[in-house]
Amino acid sequence: MAVIEVEGLTKVYEKKIRAVDGVSFAIEEGEVFGLLGPNGAGKTTLLHMLATLLEPTGGTARVNGHDIRKEPAKVRASIGIVFQDPSSDDLLTGYENLMLHAMMFGVPRAEWKGRIRKALELVELTDRANDRVRKYSGGMRRRLELARGLLHKPRVLFLDEPTLGLDPQSRERVWEYIQKLVEEEGITVIITTHYMEEADHLCDRVAIIDFGRIAVMDSPAALKQEIGERILLKGVGGAYPDLDSMAFLQRVERDGDRVELWVDDASKRLKPILEAFPSFEKVEIRPPTLNDVFLKYTGREIREGSAEGGFFERALARRARR
Ligand SMILES: Nc1ncnc2c1ncn2[C@@H]1O[C@H](COP(=O)(O)OP(=O)(O)OP(=O)(O)O)[C@@H](O)[C@H]1O
Ligand SMILES: [Mg+2]
Repeated sequence: MAVIEVEGLTKVYEKKIRAVDGVSFAIEEGEVFGLLGPNGAGKTTLLHMLATLLEPTGGTARVNGHDIRKEPAKVRASIGIVFQDPSSDDLLTGYENLMLHAMMFGVPRAEWKGRIRKALELVELTDRANDRVRKYSGGMRRRLELARGLLHKPRVLFLDEPTLGLDPQSRERVWEYIQKLVEEEGITVIITTHYMEEADHLCDRVAIIDFGRIAVMDSPAALKQEIGERILLKGVGGAYPDLDSMAFLQRVERDGDRVELWVDDASKRLKPILEAFPSFEKVEIRPPTLNDVFLKYTGREIREGSAEGGFFERALARRARR
C-alpha cells in the first residue's frame, strides 16, 4: 500500500520561483525513499509541503491516507520530521529537549519516560542525556534530533539532510540508526540529501531532483546499471586510434594523455579497446556512481558539500547569535 502519494505537487514562491514543479510519485510502506539533488533543487520545499508546514500552489498529496490540504492536523499527527537546520534548544539538556517534544506532540505523560529512554538508547545518547545540548558535538545533536523525530511513534519520518556537515564516521552511525528504525519499526522514511553515497547506501529508491522536477527515479542499482561503466586509460601515447568503428562506445572523453570511454560492460569491451590503442601506461575500470546518473539526466555534476556552509557552521553561527 502506498503510504505517500504525490500528485502534481507544485510550489511557486514570490518572484515566480518554481521551487517544486509538478512532482508526482508514490512511496510504499517500509521504503526508504531519497530525494537527491543540489542546493536549491526544491528538496526542502517539497518535504515541507508533505509535512503540511508549507501550503502548495498546485497539486496535492496523501500522507498515511490523509490529504495534506484537507486534513493537515491528521497528517501532522502521523509524521515525524528532522529539519535541515538544527532545531534543538541548546540551553536545555538532551532529556529536556525530548520531554518538551513529547509534551508538544501529545504523548501521554505516563509514556514519556519509557519512550525517551528508548529513543536515547537507539541513538546511543543515554549517558549524555543530562548534558546541555550546547556541549554536544554536531553528530550528537543530529542524533538527538533523530530521537526527537521518533518520540511520538510516527509512521512516516521526514529527514531533511540528516547528515549534512557530519564527518564520515558520524554519518555512518546515523545511517545505522535509520536502518535499524526501518527494520524494527517498519516505518517509512523520506530523506533529502545531496550526498550521493548517502542516497546510494541508504535508499531503496532515489528520485533525482533538479530545478523542482524529478529527472529520474529508480533503485540506485538500476540507475547505475543504466549508466554502464567507464574504462579509463592513462598515459596514452602513439597514434590516436579511429574509434568510429566501435559502435558500442557510448561516450569518449579525451583530456591530454587521458582517455575515458563509457561502455555497457567493461569486461566485455576491454579487449578491443586495449588493442586499438598503440600504448598506454595504466588502465582503470570505474563502476558507475549516482553522480554519473545525475550528470546524465541533468547535464551537470552534483557538487559535494554545501556552498551555504555545513551543519557545523550554521550551528556555530546560531550559537554566536545568542
Ligand atoms: N521562503 C522562500 N521564499 C522564496 N524563495 C524560496 C523560499 N524558500 C526557498 N526558496 C527558493 O526555492 C528554491 C528551492 O529551495 P529549497 O530550500 O527547497 O531547496 P533545497 O533543495 O532544499 O536546497 P538545499 O540543498 O540548499 O537545502 C530555491 O531557489 C530557493 O531560493
Ligand atoms: Mg534543503
